[in-house]
Amino acid sequence: MKNFKAIILAAGKGTRMKSGIPKVLHKIQGKTMLSFVIGLIQSLKIKDIIVVLGHQDSLIKKTLEKGIKTVKQKRLLGTADAVMSAKSRLANFNGEVLILHADHPLFTRETLNNLIRTHINNKSDCSFLTATLEQPKGYGRIRRDNYSRVEAIVEETDLTSAEQDIKETNMGAYCFKSKSLFSALNKIKINQKKKEYYLTDVIEILAKDGVKIETLNIDDPNQAMGINSQEDLAKANQVMRLRVLEDLMVKGVVIIDPLTTHIARDVSVGKDTVIYPFTVIDSDVKIGKNCSIGPFCHIRSKSSLSDSAVVGNFTEINRSKIGIKTKMKHFSYLGDATVGNDVNIGAGTITANYDGKDKNPTYIKDKAFIGSDTILIAPVKVGRAAITAAGSVVAKNQNVPDKAVVAGVPAKIIPRRKEK
Ligand code: UD1
Ligand code: CA
Repeated sequence: MKNFKAIILAAGKGTRMKSGIPKVLHKIQGKTMLSFVIGLIQSLKIKDIIVVLGHQDSLIKKTLEKGIKTVKQKRLLGTADAVMSAKSRLANFNGEVLILHADHPLFTRETLNNLIRTHINNKSDCSFLTATLEQPKGYGRIRRDNYSRVEAIVEETDLTSAEQDIKETNMGAYCFKSKSLFSALNKIKINQKKKEYYLTDVIEILAKDGVKIETLNIDDPNQAMGINSQEDLAKANQVMRLRVLEDLMVKGVVIIDPLTTHIARDVSVGKDTVIYPFTVIDSDVKIGKNCSIGPFCHIRSKSSLSDSAVVGNFTEINRSKIGIKTKMKHFSYLGDATVGNDVNIGAGTITANYDGKDKNPTYIKDKAFIGSDTILIAPVKVGRAAITAAGSVVAKNQNVPDKAVVAGVPAKIIPRRKEK
């Protein structure tokens, strides 16, 4: 988006989190709050992003990808002062500025896109998001005149008794014409109660100047949430978790119990795959179509399941690939394993992949049959259509040839029963 620059306010201490970690580095579904906000702006094709840092700035800087600019707010004197500290980065810029708070990461791309469209189409000096909340506690409130025109944003501590009932709140997401923004910022006075400069005071200044101010009301309460406490963070995690599941369901994945299913954002799942309750799928996992997963299954990073694979009760799959129609139905662990197609992994199979020093690989070829309670001590290979008898312990490097049958501890080759 040309002629648009974005500022993210991320300098605050986040005192209410009661944490040693800066607030904006707290994670939602494995990603920091700040990176969510950055991702949203990038999805709008705004390239120029300036993050205002202050509290623990060097720690936060390390987490940022290349190309994201930062400025330091020297003293944490409020949201207006934070924007002012980015001014030098916008010298001579005559365009539109999007301002977002790093602690308000639940907006959708669509919502912010609508804000930008409203702003551009109406040629407004300022446009911002509001939400009408039953519990507006903690948010700035929108004061309007008799014609419903915005007069000011009033912070909670400054509400008069007449204003206590206002339910329309400020979401901290604004578009400004840069000239209007900085000329209004120059006029802001310190808030005497908090000893801070409030960005929200810009609105009253612009309203008095009679310039064009637009608001866009969002009616999704799940987006209307700033994160100030651990409780808010837990709620945000819930919201994002359900969004991920909804996206998968839209694509034809069956999720039996969304309340107990945890799937990382980047996981891909094919249609008609059924996910049973209490399943956890970590990031960097690919799952094909028509699979059956869980209940009580944990699929960890760098794993993949091909089409029609079945992984059932109490199974863990870690850095492993599972082939088409392969079944692992009960109580098993696969780590660093590459399993072919049509393999049967019996109940209680374990790959002993860690020797105390290194993680070692296991290969199981197509159509192999791993008997119940087999332990495969890696590195080891089980050949095509080979069989391990129940209770076998296959020692490391004692590869099982194609079609061989092994049994015992340590497992030795025994004659294969004649096919019936
Ligand atoms: C702010 C708004 C409020 C709005 C709410 C929405 C102001 C004065 N109030 O309140 O109207 O309803 O957000 O979530 O703007 N920050 C800095 N430097 C500072 C202070 C804050 O960068 O000196 C950053 C924080 O890191 C945070 C954001 O600005 O990301 C908002 O600050 P916070 O103190 O959380 O404001 P709220 O009280 O939530
Ligand atoms: Ca906040």
